[in-house]
Amino acid sequence: MCARTPRCGHGAPAQRKMIDLSTVLLVAASIFLLLTLYIVLHGPRRAFAKIVLHEVKAAIKVFFMNHTKEQRVLQYVLDNATRGDPQSVVDSIDNYCNKEEWAMNVGDQKGLILDNIVNESNPCVLLELGTYCGYSAVRIARLLKPGAHLYTVEFNPAFAAVAKQMIEFAGVQDKVQILEGNTQDIIPQLKKKYEVDTLDFVFIDHWKDKYLEDTKLLEKCNLLRKGTVVLADNVIVPGAPDFLEYVRTCGRYDCTNYPSFLEYMDEKDALEKAIFRG
Ligand SMILES: C[S@@+](CC[C@H](N)C(=O)[O-])C[C@H]1O[C@@H](n2cnc3c(N)ncnc32)[C@H](O)[C@@H]1O
Repeated sequence: MCARTPRCGHGAPAQRKMIDLSTVLLVAASIFLLLTLYIVLHGPRRAFAKIVLHEVKAAIKVFFMNHTKEQRVLQYVLDNATRGDPQSVVDSIDNYCNKEEWAMNVGDQKGLILDNIVNESNPCVLLELGTYCGYSAVRIARLLKPGAHLYTVEFNPAFAAVAKQMIEFAGVQDKVQILEGNTQDIIPQLKKKYEVDTLDFVFIDHWKDKYLEDTKLLEKCNLLRKGTVVLADNVIVPGAPDFLEYVRTCGRYDCTNYPSFLEYMDEKDALEKAIFRG
């Protein structure tokens, strides 16, 4: 009798084994499908399939390790970077993401272009749409002159919590303020709640289907002035074609494209700089 009752510990493991087997089969099938897509597809679609594959791998790790990828990135920084040294934080994240796990930071290659454009425009008031782990926020903050301020918007509380620790560890918390919420809600509050007059620099790096909507919202809220630099990441992968068409053809922006590579991958991507004409 005892041998068949779950109370004695025989039924439960059998059930768990079945769940494990079906999970393993599902994961194996997903990986097989994605690998097939990877081989068959070319260009941006192949790059996108690679991203999905990395995210599936990260999801599997969460299942077995109980820590999210973003927490693992943070832990690596805490273990390997130097507190108060933003460059060492940027370098550690790049190291981890190049060697261990892909993550959707702007990354080291496009990061150099971002650095140059920030330096050229010498901004005082900056806005970032999409904080994630705080990589680009730390990267930008390390270049800012005294008194300059970066607002960075993130709607995922778990990512915002990681970014907060990352920014504090890098020692740039006086220059960077995380605004937790949806860009559609935060942008209209910038003038009154955060006393922003106009923005000198906007880094657009959140979900790609929001680039155009939020650019128009920035215009509508009178947050752009003549000369405001709007810099958009990932205009090839995953791509933001409606945004690109708008800034290039509406007559209100002077545009420059900066070809580069997708973060931590040998796949083409680009940044688009759109300077508002006022
Ligand atoms: C590509 S990641 C940002 C990477 C970051 N800029 C970096 O380079 O380190 C995009 C982030 O935007 C956030 N996001 C997407 N849509 C958003 C929205 N409408 N409002 C606020 N955050 C958003 C996502 O949760 C994600 O963390």
